[in-house]
Amino acid sequence: MFSQVSRSSAISSSLKTTTTLVTAVNKQFGAPAKFEQTAGEPQPAKLTTDTLNKFQPKLFCVQTKTGISTAAQVRYAHTDLQVPDFGYYRREGVKSPNAKSGGTEASRKNFTYLVVGAGMVGTAYTAKTMVTELVSSMSASADVLALAKIEVKLSEIPEGKNMVFKWRGKPLFVRHRTAAEIQAEQSVDLSSLRHAEHDNERVQKDEWLVVLGVCTHLGCVPIANSGDYGGYYCPCHGSHYDAAGRIRKGPAPLNLEVPAHTFVDEGTLVVG
Ligand code: FES
Repeated sequence: MFSQVSRSSAISSSLKTTTTLVTAVNKQFGAPAKFEQTAGEPQPAKLTTDTLNKFQPKLFCVQTKTGISTAAQVRYAHTDLQVPDFGYYRREGVKSPNAKSGGTEASRKNFTYLVVGAGMVGTAYTAKTMVTELVSSMSASADVLALAKIEVKLSEIPEGKNMVFKWRGKPLFVRHRTAAEIQAEQSVDLSSLRHAEHDNERVQKDEWLVVLGVCTHLGCVPIANSGDYGGYYCPCHGSHYDAAGRIRKGPAPLNLEVPAHTFVDEGTLVVG
């Protein structure tokens, strides 16, 4: 089944869409008109307005027009095509073809802004994640960071003893000094020192000395509780350090290095 609709320039302004026209015609006349053709009847040539009108359904008021400046045409509006109803997916404000767009402008803009805003947030989050991953990939790995610090239980080091730990590939000396050692190191005349540092500058707590076990001469590991000053002795070339790790005798030019360290509580030392 099909309906035939003619369109001319004179009535084109009133025919917004083919669907609208067919709907209006159907409402007025019921079911779409059918062609009635007699078998064996000679068909006129479809060249003029008159011959074209003979093909128009009689119920239609639309006329076919031809002319020098007017294109002659016959448009067939197929009404047997089943178009899916997308009304469920359309907004209420735009379902009617006669509704003004200005009435729904605010809500449509809000939706657009919401989509754009959400997209920007997602983009910013993705960019931030990518930058973070890139920067973190260039930093030290977790196992390296774990070795960057060392925690020492001070209760395991008896008074008067020096314990050696491995920290960042180097020996670390933690010495539990006696009261006599503290008294002796604090009373040293700084003018007699090659590398003048007071004992208070090298320790955070008087009873705990924390130094790297690397001789400042050529890097040997000194021996604890040895040497002329009872601190450390480097057997490589005979450097003597006192109980504050200060160079007192021998070729070493500087005191033993004191690494960054903190006492997180009374019994715990963190180095690094
Ligand atoms: S390396 Fe220690 S004295 Fe030379």
